[in-house]
Amino acid sequence: MNTTDENAPATPVKRRIMSGMRPTGRLHIGHLFGALSQWVEFSKNDDVFFEVADLHALTTAYERTETLRDNVREIVLDWLAAGVDPERSTIYVQSHVPEISELHLLLSMIVPISWLERVPTFKDQIAALGPEIATYGFLGYPLMQVCDIAIMRANTVPVGKDQVSHLELGREIVRRFNRLYAPVLVEPQPTLSEFPDVPGTDGRKMSKSYNNQIDIADDEATTTKKVRSMITDPQKVRRHDPGNPDICPVFSLHRVVNAARVPWIDENCRTGALGCVDCKAEAAERLNAFMAPVRERRAAIDPAGVEAILEDGGMRARAVARDTLADVKSAMNLP
Ligand code: TRP
Repeated sequence: MNTTDENAPATPVKRRIMSGMRPTGRLHIGHLFGALSQWVEFSKNDDVFFEVADLHALTTAYERTETLRDNVREIVLDWLAAGVDPERSTIYVQSHVPEISELHLLLSMIVPISWLERVPTFKDQIAALGPEIATYGFLGYPLMQVCDIAIMRANTVPVGKDQVSHLELGREIVRRFNRLYAPVLVEPQPTLSEFPDVPGTDGRKMSKSYNNQIDIADDEATTTKKVRSMITDPQKVRRHDPGNPDICPVFSLHRVVNAARVPWIDENCRTGALGCVDCKAEAAERLNAFMAPVRERRAAIDPAGVEAILEDGGMRARAVARDTLADVKSAMNLP
């Protein structure tokens, strides 16, 4: 594509970043190292929009909505604790921006069902969560995500690897729209976090569904206890047995919170000089040091302030969304 084409949609000079998370409960340190630290960085230089995707949560949790409100508050508290600054970013709830839902309906006219059915997460999630999640709304999950992004005219979308297929679909839909009507939508690009993944305490992917997570909201004692319970190289049974850091989740944690000591730990684990008990104690101490400012920020948050942040963010997000939706409707010749 010729990007200097005068018909191409104007790309904002500053990067316009948009990302979101579903409010499904407390976030863990994987979210903090992976996504949230990146969000904080982006907020320094770019124009940033962070969305609590409550409608996306409904696609799979439509039978359990009684926790939704609390979960929205909880996730915003985790974001603020992580250092996401509401002065430098627009933090809002998806359902407070009804233009997203309207765009979803309009774009649904041009999206072939086969495009949605072939998104890998569709079949994977049905296999994982059961056939009762295979609703019309769930099929539209990635389309709704495209709408979240497109309505804010975001060009850059920080996401996890599992979301890249949604962005690919998003670009296809945007191109189709721009070709059919007028070039009013921006094609979004994903950006992946450079942080190495931190596995859960049992060595599997850190996830609430495995109950192996260390939460952002955990206090110091809980965090230490969880680090102590982590599995290590199963071949390293006695203190002086040589270990293999490459397969040890505690070592992955050191990489993230204790980078300067990684070469020493690597060597002394392999020779057997370093025992797992000491190694874990150091990891817990470093992790707690890393979490100290996060905990301080959380303690300082006025819970009533969350409402105000979301109200203000919702207004700002709607102003952008209204503008995009107006262009979309005009391009589609809606009277
Ligand atoms: N689907 C994303 C996830 O599960 C959450 C999400 C919703 C999102 N809307 C978005 C991410 C828009 C990026 C942009 O992680």
